[in-house]
Formats: sequence, C-alpha cells, structure tokens
Amino acid sequence: MMGTGVDGAMIGGEAILGARGLTKRFGAMCAANSIDYHLGPKEMAGIIGPNGAGKTTVFNLLTGVYAPDQGSVFFDGREITRLSPQQRVKLGIRRTFQLASTFDNLRVIDNLRLAYYHKQRQGRCSLGGMCSADLGEVRDESIDECLEQLELSKAAHLPVASLPLGSKRKLELAMALIGAPRVLLLDEPFAGLSEMEIGQIVAMLRHRCTRRMAVLIIEHKITWLKDLVDRISVLVNGEIIADGDYQTVLDSPVTRKSYWRVE
Ligand SMILES: Nc1ncnc2c1ncn2[C@@H]1O[C@H](COP(=O)(O)OP(=O)(O)OP(=O)(O)O)[C@@H](O)[C@H]1O
Ligand SMILES: [Mg+2]
Repeated sequence: MMGTGVDGAMIGGEAILGARGLTKRFGAMCAANSIDYHLGPKEMAGIIGPNGAGKTTVFNLLTGVYAPDQGSVFFDGREITRLSPQQRVKLGIRRTFQLASTFDNLRVIDNLRLAYYHKQRQGRCSLGGMCSADLGEVRDESIDECLEQLELSKAAHLPVASLPLGSKRKLELAMALIGAPRVLLLDEPFAGLSEMEIGQIVAMLRHRCTRRMAVLIIEHKITWLKDLVDRISVLVNGEIIADGDYQTVLDSPVTRKSYWRVE
C-alpha cells in the first residue's frame, strides 16, 4: 500500500523516505512482508500495530541496522538500501530507541553538547578523542533552549544514570533534534512515561518538528497520536493493512478486525 498523505499528496513535496517491497525474515517468520511506504518531507506520521507486528523491524530496515532480504529503501530520491547506519545518520536520518539510549556515565548537559559537537563535525568524530573538559567548551543557545523546553535545566549537571526514564527519554529526543535531522524516527517515545511527561514530549514535537521535518512515530498509546500526526498506518504480521487519516483508519473494518480484533 502506498503511503500517500491523507489528501493523496505527500506533505511537503516528493517523499523524503521510502520503502519498496521491503522484506525481512527471521527463520520462517516474516517480520516485514513486502512493505511499500512513503513519508513526505514535512509529514508527521504514526505506525501502530500489535506487539511483534514488525514495527521496530521496519525502523531497523529504514535505518540500516538490518539489511532487507528483498526490497529497497530510498531517501530524497536516492537508493540507500546498502548504506550503513552511520552513512544514513550523515544524510539526516535520526532515531530514538524503544529503550532510551543515552550516555549514562555523562552529565545531561554533556550528552547534549556531544550531540551538538557531532552535528558541527557532521559525524566526523568519535567519543574517543573527547574528554569532559573538551565538552565544556561546546556551547550553543540550542542546548540551553532544549534543556529549558524539556524542563531539564535543573538536571543539567546530573549524571544521566541518576535520571528517571521520563527524563532520559526527553534527553534522547533532544539529542536527536540537536542533530537537525531531516527525518526523525521515534520508537515508542511515550512508553513508561507519565501523562505529564508525554505532554511535554508532544509539545516539543509540535514546537520543534511540525512542518519542519519528517517524523515517523511508533506508538501503542494511540490516543496521543490523534491530534499530532497527519496520517497513521497499521502494521499487522509484517504488512501494512490500513493507511490514512487517524479516524478513518481506526474506524475501518480491516483495522477493527486485525488490530482491535472486533468484527
Ligand atoms: N533480531 C531478531 N531475530 C529474530 N527475530 C526477531 C529479531 N528482531 C525481531 N524479531 C521478531 O520479529 C517479529 C517482529 O518484531 P518487532 O520487534 O519488529 O515487533 P514490534 O512491532 O516492534 O513489537 P513491539 O510492539 O513489541 O515492540 C517478532 O516476532 C520478533 O520476535
Ligand atoms: Mg518494537
């Protein structure tokens, strides 16, 4: 199924990220089954589906963590199926993980400084050559802005290891945003968070991402997606079974049968 926008056209022009016939098998199980998907350059879209449907697998295929058994991945009109995850990050494809991934041994502010430093160097550096003193030299308004917006200013000088999950997840999103991505892939950004923390993340996405970049969000807490995304797709058994605007997709008989399991 083609993932064109609700009105049939890509939001922001030609697709920035696309998949054609994307297939990934684990033994006899097909985690992604010939998936066709397109994301507009300024579109915010959601992917929902039951546990084990293949949602994270699709992200792993799009970001180069897995090579597909069949099919191709496109970015900005160019095939990137064989590019490494690092090469895709350089193109501007960023993601967050189902379990927050931050540098737990560093302070909150140093995580953000590191993300900023990477962006300035366009990924041409490793943590190896850096020490905390060097990181102290990295300063930018965008770092303070991020801290403030996510109410992390007070925690700026705490080690990340001491933070609750909600703060870690906010930090991970802030790190991805500091890299000025063109496509942002979020794997269950609301999982394990309080309503208040989810509200902060939603506000940050609205403020920093809407109509500025392409965002694809995997989420189980679908009511939060309702007023956030332009389009939603339902993945079941490695296949996109429905795609369109939130209400139409959720009300559709095929979603009710395969996702909600009601007739
Ligand atoms: N590296 C792997 N090796 C073997 N099987 C895998 C691997 N990764 C995923 N799978 C299997 O592929 C299927 C899809 O998994 P995936 O993690 O993509 O689902 P998901 O939709 O993200 O689920 P959840 O909502 O629980 O996160 C599952 O049956 C899973 O066990
Ligand atoms: Mg998953």
